[in-house]
Amino acid sequence: MTDAVAEKSQDRPVETGSDSAVSVSLRNAVKRYGDVTAVDHLDLEAKQGQFLTLLGPSGCGKTTTLRLIGGFEELDEGRVRVAGQDVTRIPPYRRPVTTVFQQYALFPHLSVRKNIEYGLKHGGLNRKEIDSRVTEMMGLMEIPEMGDRRPRQLSGGQQQRVALARALVMKPPVLLLDEPLGSLDYKLRKGMQFELKRIHREVGATFVYVTHDQEEAMTMSDRIIVMRDGQIEQDGRPKEIFDAPKTSFVADFIGDTNLVDGTVTDSRDGFVTVDLGALGRVRGTSEAGLASGERARVSIRPTDVRVIATKGQGAVVTDAVLAGTHIAMKIKAGENEVTAHVPRGSSPSPGETVLLEVESERVRVFEAESE
Ligand SMILES: Nc1ncnc2c1ncn2[C@@H]1O[C@H](COP(=O)(O)OP(=O)(O)OP(=O)(O)O)[C@@H](O)[C@H]1O
Ligand SMILES: [Mg+2]
Repeated sequence: MTDAVAEKSQDRPVETGSDSAVSVSLRNAVKRYGDVTAVDHLDLEAKQGQFLTLLGPSGCGKTTTLRLIGGFEELDEGRVRVAGQDVTRIPPYRRPVTTVFQQYALFPHLSVRKNIEYGLKHGGLNRKEIDSRVTEMMGLMEIPEMGDRRPRQLSGGQQQRVALARALVMKPPVLLLDEPLGSLDYKLRKGMQFELKRIHREVGATFVYVTHDQEEAMTMSDRIIVMRDGQIEQDGRPKEIFDAPKTSFVADFIGDTNLVDGTVTDSRDGFVTVDLGALGRVRGTSEAGLASGERARVSIRPTDVRVIATKGQGAVVTDAVLAGTHIAMKIKAGENEVTAHVPRGSSPSPGETVLLEVESERVRVFEAESE
């Protein structure tokens, strides 16, 4: 079947026009390694100039997806298109994309400058233009005085920035980035996130960015694709993914949340009330079509929890620590444990009994996970 599709598409002329706003697309992409299906019938689309992030836990298929787009792996099924062209059978070096790999490979025998300018040499630029672009890029990456060093004379984070500079200096229409900030320390990573976002805006290229860091994905992306076991779990704008996760997997992966199980007691107009036993009742939104009496899993952000002190009934506060602007409190009832971030001053102390009071659109109610 794959061959039939391949033959048919070769007969067709290269499509542009209506498709031109789409920069990268995967259709029904499958990649298997032996028994493992690393990418499992995945459909993905990045619009021209978009910052698209693939987010998910280790092993969910992010790198493989990127390698399929870059041409470093061949699809078992499906098609890849870049800039309106079907590139499924086209080798990596002829695809209009540049990749920054998770294991960035610098040329060990070349200086930092030579590494960065490597790809520019065949681009028709003169020496002066090349030098000025490389110098600009080294400044941007905060490695200005390291041009003459060899990669082994740099720290891991510095090497990573050289790899990034080497890709960005090409100003490619599509840039594929696989955890490019992974080995930087917290402060530098934050700074680089800001820089990368700025560079993205300036160059207008399509970025397909891979990370397992949800905060990084939230701050940088126009769109996030949350992956799980080679498939798309949810695809949307950062705010949608955060405020309206479609599954408890997404809720758990994006941002701090509490996942607690209970029983639906009321369900109408998209709002669902769930009895959490000794923890109390919560009301939130759901698309799961749950009816009264059904088991449900509820996602509650710590910042949305309100805590009502009771005398003798309810859940027990097991811990309360000052976390700067708020108090982080742990509340336990049977198997369920919840973290709450409550304002300073008014909060109950460890050992006291409380009930939760939460009613928010951000509280999301899902079907209970079958165990
Ligand atoms: N060359 C390979 N041979 C065999 N299995 C592979 C190969 N490459 C990846 N896999 C498997 O495919 C799955 C997806 O791997 P992939 O590298 O895409 O994950 P990832 O989401 O990038 O993870 P991480 O966050 O750890 O980098 C994993 O189960 C992995 O073990
Ligand atoms: Mg990876």
